[in-house]
Amino acid sequence: MNVHAFRHDTGLTREHYVDPAIYALELERVFRRQWLCVGHVSDVPGVGNYFSDHLVGERIIVVRSSESRIQAFLNVCRHRGHHVCSEARGRAKVFTCPYHQWTYNLDGSLKRAPGFADGEDIDLKSWGLHEVELGIWNGFIFVWLGKRKAKPIAECFAFDNAGLAKLEPEHMKEVGRERYRIASNWKVLLENYLECYHCHGSHPELCVTMDVEATYKNTDEDWKGEYFAGPVQLYPGKVTASMTGALVSKPLGELAGLPDPPAGYGGGAGVLPSLSRIIFHVDHAVMHVLRPIDVAHVGWETRWYVSADAVEGVDYKPETVTEVWRLTNAEDIALCESTYRGVCSERFVPGPLHPRREGAVRPTLDTYLALMATP
Ligand code: FES
Ligand code: FE
Repeated sequence: MNVHAFRHDTGLTREHYVDPAIYALELERVFRRQWLCVGHVSDVPGVGNYFSDHLVGERIIVVRSSESRIQAFLNVCRHRGHHVCSEARGRAKVFTCPYHQWTYNLDGSLKRAPGFADGEDIDLKSWGLHEVELGIWNGFIFVWLGKRKAKPIAECFAFDNAGLAKLEPEHMKEVGRERYRIASNWKVLLENYLECYHCHGSHPELCVTMDVEATYKNTDEDWKGEYFAGPVQLYPGKVTASMTGALVSKPLGELAGLPDPPAGYGGGAGVLPSLSRIIFHVDHAVMHVLRPIDVAHVGWETRWYVSADAVEGVDYKPETVTEVWRLTNAEDIALCESTYRGVCSERFVPGPLHPRREGAVRPTLDTYLALMATP
């Protein structure tokens, strides 16, 4: 048989996974050109509630600056660059830089610069914190770190949201969060997330409920372009993604009022290739986000949400809500770290991708290459 008769899609060349210069360009052309999910409206319930984060080489603060407005700023003092906020989360009336005590209002404007007389020594109005564009989709908060104007989030996530609106996704609370540091290039993790070829062999917990065959079809057909939506299909009779397929919390939103929760209900949306993903099941939601650290390390964070009305110990136990993905993440981390050690081999060349079971990998890598080729 002439093996050259076969034509296969493959991953990228080895240099894409090991070259620091390519990694530096990715921060600019991929991660600063897409909406990145950083949290949920429940993180900032009241005026002055804030959280800070560190992603794609930037430190940011997200704050509810008024009843109706959530804003994001670079956590970088306009005086000499010290961070303005050192806490991961909290409630503030103002942000005061610990270095020389420049003080900023919740809307980012500079309120006071000790020793500088406003209008004589400084124009306070000109030295507010740099604002970061922020968008909200179904209760989830996204930021756009690039200097170029963001594409409006409503245009990017222009999906039919009617099914999700019923879940009242703004009305949820976080019940678990895990952040991992993984010894792998970020694209190995991305490629792993894009395919379920490995699921039967590696994810016994996920495969209790997730319909793997249907998932191949979904990823082939729905996971196209930078922003995608689509169903998350469970096996017949399974109500949610759990270790048994039975509920792990009270149903979300309007579904709580139904006599029986609908079986197999699930959907979500995502951003590729920077990889933010939100998955809604009938009784809980999961957020996954990828955070590049350097060419050989990537962060991965998963957060779990249930209805804001659900009562711990009565409607849910956090360890039960989080169980499937805690175990699945640990399995994926081991797979990705081993794969990356192989990719670093001098003799690594990318092998053939399965056309159906790994059908979303190459189209997403093509999206990545198109972003990388655009100055
Ligand atoms: Fe913030 Fe000086 S660096 S007040
Ligand atoms: Fe996996």
